[in-house]
Amino acid sequence: MAKVFNWQLGREMDYPYAGHRPQRQFCMIMDTNKCIACQTCTIACKSTWTWGRGQEHMLWNNIETKPFGFYPTGWDVEILERLGPQTWKGDTYTGKTIFEAAPDGEVALHWEPDQADWSNPNLGEDEPTGVAGEETYIPDTPHANMWMYYLQRICNHCTYPACLAACPREAVYKRDEDGIVLIDQTRCRGYQECVAACPYKKSLFNLETRVSEKCIGCYPKVEQGLQTQCTTVCIGRLRLTDFVNPPDKADPRNPADFLVHVRKVALPIYPQLGLEPNVYYIPPVHVPPKYLHQMFGPGVEEAIATYRNAKDDEELLGALMLFGSTEHIIASFDVKDGVARAYDKKGDELVAVPLREPEVVRSFSYATTTPDGKPATGYRHNT
Ligand code: SF4
Ligand code: SF4
Ligand code: F3S
Repeated sequence: MAKVFNWQLGREMDYPYAGHRPQRQFCMIMDTNKCIACQTCTIACKSTWTWGRGQEHMLWNNIETKPFGFYPTGWDVEILERLGPQTWKGDTYTGKTIFEAAPDGEVALHWEPDQADWSNPNLGEDEPTGVAGEETYIPDTPHANMWMYYLQRICNHCTYPACLAACPREAVYKRDEDGIVLIDQTRCRGYQECVAACPYKKSLFNLETRVSEKCIGCYPKVEQGLQTQCTTVCIGRLRLTDFVNPPDKADPRNPADFLVHVRKVALPIYPQLGLEPNVYYIPPVHVPPKYLHQMFGPGVEEAIATYRNAKDDEELLGALMLFGSTEHIIASFDVKDGVARAYDKKGDELVAVPLREPEVVRSFSYATTTPDGKPATGYRHNT
């Protein structure tokens, strides 16, 4: 195996191919605190890309309730149990990645879901965990001992994709222009090594065409400078489609770099697996840090503290307010005089968003008669 540098682990690691970073890396940022699990994103993706025969079970985008929700069943528990307890020393991962823990002769530690595992995408929906104990559900301390949260899941368009590493046909490729990972439908022979190897289980087998498919990062939109379908339809305005740089090339004016590398409020999912995934999550503020540490790595507490301070951090607030404000991909942003502005790659302004909505109180009077001339009983007339 070659040695590649994984900045999320703070060290080099083994990978079957030599390291190569694309010219630009597609990424998405999800603010888990704002999601209401309305599944609008799920349906937008399904009705755009996976409405055909053999795709019935496919959700390239899904929303699951953590800790009991999974699609497919047990996807993260299965790989975490196989990997076993692992350690971090500060920001450096001292445990093994799935490539380093691969059994002899295999590319990565892996497992294969059964067909039935894809049948329960809303498993555990809205089920909290914890013991309420003496507390009620609406106590003085919000959430008390009970918690759950919604996790937004798409393919991570990983820097070191396990699907790509495992395919014996070299049918999976990562585009140099945007880092989007695709499966060449004409090369694929349905070996499903990609399905087994992807620890996030975001490569899916089509039962009709007998080849595998996955989230395509809405590349026809990205090529036109547009954010993905799941982003633009999002009711909670919690998604951002952008490009992210590695930390040594971070541009603080780019919203993704700002959130990931400067403020460090958005963290990769299960970085310890070693794929350098490119979907970044603002962790839920009400969930026990121990659970979040396992899912998002060692920066969780700092990320939550920074996020909680957003009301006093105009730049951070501005970057967050730009989520869902334009369908175009934002190349840069700034915050001045209480207004966040987003720009495209030519520097043209895309949108301006006030950090605080102006408050308007309309005066009113009580009318003595209704519009048809009868005596009014409590008829309010706005002026
Ligand atoms: Fe491949 Fe899975 Fe990474 Fe997507 S999330 S690029 S399917 S390894
Ligand atoms: Fe679906 Fe596009 Fe979102 Fe991928 S990026 S989950 S293809 S809507
Ligand atoms: Fe390769 Fe996966 Fe197809 S392993 S051959 S891309 S099913």
